[in-house]
Amino acid sequence: MQDPTLNKGTAFSDAERDALGLRGLVPPHVQTIEDQVQRFQITYEKRSTDLERYIDLASLQDRNETLYYRIVTQFIEQTMPIIYTPTVGLACQQFGQIFRRSHGMYVSERDRGHIAEVLQNWPRKDIRVIVVTDGERILGLGDLGANGMGIPIGKLSLYTACAGIHPTQCLPVLIDVGTNNQSLLDDPLYLGLRQRRTTGEAYDALVDEFMTAASAVFPKALIQFEDFANHNAFRYLQKYRDSVCTFNDDIQGTASVALAGIYSALRVTRKALRDQRFLFFGAGEAGTGVGELMVMALKGEGLTEAEARERCWFIDSKGLVVKSRKDLTDHKLAFAQDHAPLKETLAIIEAFKPSVLVGASGQPGTFTKAVVEAVTRFNERPIIFALSNPTSKAECTAAQAYEWSDGQAVFASGSPFQPVEFKGKRYVPGQGNNSYIFPGVGLGVIAAGSRLVTDEMFLIAARTLANLVTETDLRQGRIYPPLAQIRSVSLAIAVAVARVAQQSGLATEKLPDDLLGKIRALMYHPEYVSLV
Ligand code: NAI
Repeated sequence: MQDPTLNKGTAFSDAERDALGLRGLVPPHVQTIEDQVQRFQITYEKRSTDLERYIDLASLQDRNETLYYRIVTQFIEQTMPIIYTPTVGLACQQFGQIFRRSHGMYVSERDRGHIAEVLQNWPRKDIRVIVVTDGERILGLGDLGANGMGIPIGKLSLYTACAGIHPTQCLPVLIDVGTNNQSLLDDPLYLGLRQRRTTGEAYDALVDEFMTAASAVFPKALIQFEDFANHNAFRYLQKYRDSVCTFNDDIQGTASVALAGIYSALRVTRKALRDQRFLFFGAGEAGTGVGELMVMALKGEGLTEAEARERCWFIDSKGLVVKSRKDLTDHKLAFAQDHAPLKETLAIIEAFKPSVLVGASGQPGTFTKAVVEAVTRFNERPIIFALSNPTSKAECTAAQAYEWSDGQAVFASGSPFQPVEFKGKRYVPGQGNNSYIFPGVGLGVIAAGSRLVTDEMFLIAARTLANLVTETDLRQGRIYPPLAQIRSVSLAIAVAVARVAQQSGLATEKLPDDLLGKIRALMYHPEYVSLV
């Protein structure tokens, strides 16, 4: 009863009550899981805030994991915005106040030299996915230090709910090197180390020790980096991707979901990928991640590397990313164009004539009426993705995109927007939610026992996702499948990813002819199993 993975509460059967000595410890009437779902819903629906709903679900997860996953899976469209963005952001901000029971592992500065021993304290040994953050860039909310733990917990819940990775095989980790967030350091309820962030070599050494220890203690684990600040995210991806089974969802997962959206959007505009011109607003983790995968996709269509990069122009806070600039970091340099410096967005649009706008700048309102009208002049059906999160940061709203393009834009956003009525027509905006991609990629990597995670896997994941969009979806402007289908989406992606692992010689598991059957059988279903 005290172990959330085994606890059934009022659903322990008579036989279990007798055999396990539970008689008298639970009320006499034996309930079904359906009864329990209904009981949970009654209180849940009466809650007046999403944070209260988050606490209800988190407490349930700590009490009865099977019931928690039954509810999250059955009502994924409603629960995802609670257990993940946007509500999880609020939960992280108030983590010290809503903390009930510890979940996941904290590896801190104080564990230096002993991280492997600390990881061995985790009671389960067969860990297959670790999501790790250092809390420095939590969603669009900045440095939340140890409060960032809500993110790995939420993300791993999605691995289980969306792709059926068994909850006992998931491990959330927070690397605590302090925080530079003064209000947290001053907060008596803050649960993390009360020091400013360790940086430089000492920080790198700690992360390195964690990576070595995690790979040794949990040799079958995929390690996903999450919400690290830009200056560390790119470095660590480069440093570990060829030796550890790891990826960064902010960079690679975002890229894949955006590319899938582009593939679907091109079915609407009836244009070829190889003829597109991409203008990115924001040259950070999300933007350049999408750019790199786009280059790979364009090369697959016959363009040379140089030609593909000429199709991807970037604007950052200082203007167009061009070769003459002296302030460019490596991930931006790769996209620096041989062009005179330009600052003004409309002048850049005039010069480049993009067919696709990708917003990943975190700057609301960057896609102004004039910008949308300008791309609509060059394109019958412009593709406009306003990916910045949360909703308040989107480069433009869905309604603005449809209105300013006179209903011609094919639109997607990072945060959900309600359907829009415009001139008597109903438009359903797409949501480029990373949950379409990372759970399926993780499942495929685990099924194949892949030694590494490659960009090709994210490319194939994007194509697979786009192929699952139906003509009916497209007619409504919907360029992603409904979230309710997420488990079958993840399964299809997992099969494709496992095949890539096999073809690239990275698979350590022998894959049967019936790969789909094998992977489906691996998926966890939130049902009570008999304990006697
Ligand atoms: P980042 O901090 O790495 O990059 C931000 C970039 O925007 C920088 O290159 C900066 O120079 C640029 N920028 C700032 N002001 C600008 C302006 N006025 N015009 C053009 N560029 C400007 O941040 P990251 O991680 O790339 O995230 C960016 C946004 O993308 C965030 O709002 C995030 O929530 C969103 N995002 C969306 C995802 C999705 O939709 N699935 C997934 C990941 C991130």
